[in-house]
Amino acid sequence: MKKTILAILMVLPSLAFSAGGKIHIDKADFDLNNKESLQRGARLFVNYCLSCHSAAYQRYNRMAEDIGLTDAQVKSNLMFAGEKVGETMTIAMQTEDAKVYFGTKVPDLSVISRARGADWLYTYLRTFHTDESRPFGVNNTTFKDVGMPHVLWELEGMKKLVNADEMSEHPGTAPKFEQVSAGEMSAAEYDNAMRDLTAFMVYMGEPAKLVRYELGIYVLLFLVLLFLVAYPMKKEFWKDIH
Ligand code: HEC
Repeated sequence: MKKTILAILMVLPSLAFSAGGKIHIDKADFDLNNKESLQRGARLFVNYCLSCHSAAYQRYNRMAEDIGLTDAQVKSNLMFAGEKVGETMTIAMQTEDAKVYFGTKVPDLSVISRARGADWLYTYLRTFHTDESRPFGVNNTTFKDVGMPHVLWELEGMKKLVNADEMSEHPGTAPKFEQVSAGEMSAAEYDNAMRDLTAFMVYMGEPAKLVRYELGIYVLLFLVLLFLVAYPMKKEFWKDIH
């Protein structure tokens, strides 16, 4: 009986996964220890995302400290609405208005990286494409019929999906795009920018992670030192016993 239950429990997660339909996901490959990357990500976030999405669990001054900026730098470069550095990243738009503008709620992005995963976010931000049937003229292969416009089109330009049929026949196929209009960035530059932005959202999902990374090194060092003391001591205590 126990074995049966165990077996059922073990296959459950895979069932849940297959029910969601297969989507091709690219690996984000970012580096949370790279402070410059996090700073670039923060800049993209406040410039392009914070107008619609809040990050109500993130305080400006906590972010400053964590990603290696001073409060003054954050105030002059990353804050636009006259907030105080101790405030959280909220926005002026009301939930009700968002429903009218976008037909849906605009989710808070504080912990989105934990809900969706970093790779999903990285892929999502790079798979907007033209689609005349949608209200904003764009769709997204990672989040079908998304209510969000392609807010980064100035950077990326616009792309057209060219293998839609292949993708619907073989779920999990990677989307292929053709550039229809150029943006300020090349494809490689845009990928890098999205890596920075993803890194920032991962940091935001768990700000204590950066502290923990640093702490981890000290913990390991301490354990090594402890071993160097404890092992000779153990030998000394037990030497007469056998
Ligand atoms: C013009 C307003 C607007 C801007 C600016 C905007 N978004 Fe969105 N975003 C939306 C809306 C509306 C949705 C909800 C879409 C839906 O549920 O169909 C959404 C959804 C999302 C989701 C999916 C959330 C989920 O349900 O899993 C992510 C991730 C996201 N946005 C990230 C971003 C990032 C990163 C930026 C900045 C580059 C950004 N958004 C800028 C309006 C916006």
